[in-house]
Amino acid sequence: MQEHKTIYYKDYLPSDYTVVNCSLEFIIEESSTRVENIMEIRRQNPSAKELRLDGEKLDLELIWVNDVLLDETMYTKEENALLIPLDTDEARIRIINRIYPDENTELEGLYRSGGIWCTQNEPEGFRRITYFIDRPDVMTKFTTKIIASKERCPVLLSNGNLRGTATLDNGKHLALWEDPIPKPSYLFALVAGDLGSITDTFTTMSGKKVDLAIYCDRGNEDKCHHAMRSLKKSMEWDEYTYGREYDLEIYNIVAVDSFNMGAMENKGLNIFNSHYVLADEDTATDADFMGIESVIAHEYFHNWTGNRITCRNWFELTLKEGLTVFRDQCFSADMNSELTQRLDDVRALRERQFVEDAGPTAHPIKPDHYMEINNFYTATVYEKGAEVIRMMYTVLGREKFREATDSYFEWYDGKAVGTEEFLKAMQSQSPVDLSQFKRWYSQERTPVLNVSSQYRPESAELVLKINQIIPNNTKNHEQLPYAMPFRIALLAEDGSEYPLKSDDVTLVHRDVVWLEKSVHEIVFKDISSAPRLSLNRGFSAPVIIECDELDYPFLMANDRDGFVRYEAAHQFGIETLEAMMNGAEVNEHYIESYGAILCDGSIEAMFKSQILELPTLTTLMQRQAVIDVDVIFNAHEKLKQVLARRYFSEMLSMLEGLYNPSNAHIDGVSMGKRALKNRLLGLLMSAGDESVNALCLSHYHESLSMSERLTALDLLENYAPDLASGALDDFYRRYQDQTLVMNKYFAVCASSRREGTMERVAALQENSAYDVKVPNLVRSLIGSFARNPVAFYHRSGTGFRFVAEKVIEIDAINPQIASGLAGAFKNYPKLSHEQKAQMGIELERIKNHPDLSNNVYEIVSKILE
Ligand code: ARG
Ligand code: ZN
Repeated sequence: MQEHKTIYYKDYLPSDYTVVNCSLEFIIEESSTRVENIMEIRRQNPSAKELRLDGEKLDLELIWVNDVLLDETMYTKEENALLIPLDTDEARIRIINRIYPDENTELEGLYRSGGIWCTQNEPEGFRRITYFIDRPDVMTKFTTKIIASKERCPVLLSNGNLRGTATLDNGKHLALWEDPIPKPSYLFALVAGDLGSITDTFTTMSGKKVDLAIYCDRGNEDKCHHAMRSLKKSMEWDEYTYGREYDLEIYNIVAVDSFNMGAMENKGLNIFNSHYVLADEDTATDADFMGIESVIAHEYFHNWTGNRITCRNWFELTLKEGLTVFRDQCFSADMNSELTQRLDDVRALRERQFVEDAGPTAHPIKPDHYMEINNFYTATVYEKGAEVIRMMYTVLGREKFREATDSYFEWYDGKAVGTEEFLKAMQSQSPVDLSQFKRWYSQERTPVLNVSSQYRPESAELVLKINQIIPNNTKNHEQLPYAMPFRIALLAEDGSEYPLKSDDVTLVHRDVVWLEKSVHEIVFKDISSAPRLSLNRGFSAPVIIECDELDYPFLMANDRDGFVRYEAAHQFGIETLEAMMNGAEVNEHYIESYGAILCDGSIEAMFKSQILELPTLTTLMQRQAVIDVDVIFNAHEKLKQVLARRYFSEMLSMLEGLYNPSNAHIDGVSMGKRALKNRLLGLLMSAGDESVNALCLSHYHESLSMSERLTALDLLENYAPDLASGALDDFYRRYQDQTLVMNKYFAVCASSRREGTMERVAALQENSAYDVKVPNLVRSLIGSFARNPVAFYHRSGTGFRFVAEKVIEIDAINPQIASGLAGAFKNYPKLSHEQKAQMGIELERIKNHPDLSNNVYEIVSKILE
């Protein structure tokens, strides 16, 4: 059995040696690749006597130090390291080793995706390519020579600028790449293969021309245009918004089908999961188009927040990820609708990050220990990290924030730093002291704000009492109150806002109070009559609000803050559903308020579709002390039915007005109409009406857009089984050769609420379109099943067993994908006695499996703790 070691932030030390230059030569052959690595090493710690190089799964052939060939007595080879005695300030190390990309199923280091050789090195993949000091605070200038068959690999790419090409004997050719900008090894990339491409150019703010290219499997070139447009918009936006200009002559993006994550920001050579590049109206949903725009932007923005300024060590991951997510969220808001974007981001945060933060794998955005760093590319480090940046943006305001980021770029360009440095730049422009604010980096779990008020008519004052309830951390230790910006309004009868005047609290802006105490009592003056509370506007702080004074129908109808309007509907929905789960009848006031939104012709379609979404099963599960999926599911279905029957004719006529089968345009207005249309169709289908079922089938067949076709397919599957099988067959026949669309097919089947879903999923593993080695397919089929509460929490316990078997099977192939899947067991502490016993057996079975990866072990042992 493998030993599972924990790594601590407090043990961090700068590297004894650094690598100044690294010149690499790759000879790519069918079954293996030969790597020659020449490093110029410099000693940084004068008392260091031994150079330690990381290396995993490498066949070492030869080593030279300063041109002296070493024999085996002159160095020590450990399983994952090479130790070379070295007592000079400078040295030249030359290493030749061999690697086997075809056998690399973990998809870390150099591997094969389809016929393409590609790399993924963040965080610690480079050590699977060659021996190196593989840590982000070692920054090196890389030159890369690639030699391969001209026929197999006409395209040879690496980071930086192309310095030369040559034709060699035996049908081979070479390309020489040079990256002038020092970078950590995790940003190294190489691609070789027979690829198609589209090209374009961008002229930067100082007039430099950049050649842009997007590479993909031949035949998919036409699906790259949306990605290219997104790239150019990103480059322009970063110049305008942050003053950041691109710094190389070339920017390349490559789309590959087998990729563990979404995409990777390698310097000048981004490598993407093809899901985030390829799209056209026939095969991609509106959400896919939006996802591409935001991920292309995210990776581009990393060029400054991540590459030029990188992380000192992996505990600092949120330095680049939280900041870059914040930047891509703002970009998407500017390109589309600010409100829609904010609601989507908050929704995603609460569905994923709040759940993570409440469970056994909770961690601060800056963790202080880990077993496997790959397990920390989480919603917490990314999305909560972005919320923490956003709070600083709220406090500083747009202009000061820009000045602060200007300083950040000026002070730390070319360096590997930590969140402390970022905070220093923020503090230089902040109107308030940020010391206490830093707790957001080191504490975990979601704080609750308990809010109540008292109106004093005689003095025209409103007393607002805000109490921070800070949960204990995962170790059950107490944590301290936070500092945060809290955007609020006190609303008069007509929805207008009273100016906020108070001597009891710092107002960082007109409508933003700075909370820092565990209890605040704030007296607001000149409030002429009892106001309505509008709290946490725009979701200014990532907290849970508890307040039993909120007037939901009023806020839904009158608040000028779109988030609060949405939130009122959402909370009202939660309370209505929870009452129903306890046996109450449907709340008539809720039905009326819902109807008022539904029939309000002044609300923009996308926003309306968001407001009309009922709270999800996940949201409700998270609020239960003991999880009971059936009771939630039944209440949820019942509420949809009641709404559909009450507003049947309104919904139907609105649906008809929105439906235009031949519209597959990708613009905000069309997307909004489709989203609302799909929302209404979903509600109507729950009514169980034959004519609606037939309508849904016709939408399936007639729509030209994938968003509509896929929603119709999903609704048929769940509500009209008789019609579903024909539609599913049709879909399969039409798209079986397009793996990105087959992901959608598998996801619909695995998300089905019908009985027998597990058996179908098990059978689909044999389908010729499925491949357990391709992460997207595993996530679509097995991952969707594990996220389908009705099937996964089935009373029989077979859902738990099935997923546990998959975790073990997939762990032997790809530990990162297996540990993602193991996250499905996170609700273990909250299960009923009976279900807990069932899941406990499966968790123990995984944990005791011989040769379990660190990745899965860390997750499962935390869940069982
Ligand atoms: N830095 C990449 C991004 O945020 C993600 C890389 C994650 N890699 C991993 N092995 N977990 O865009
Ligand atoms: Zn990122």
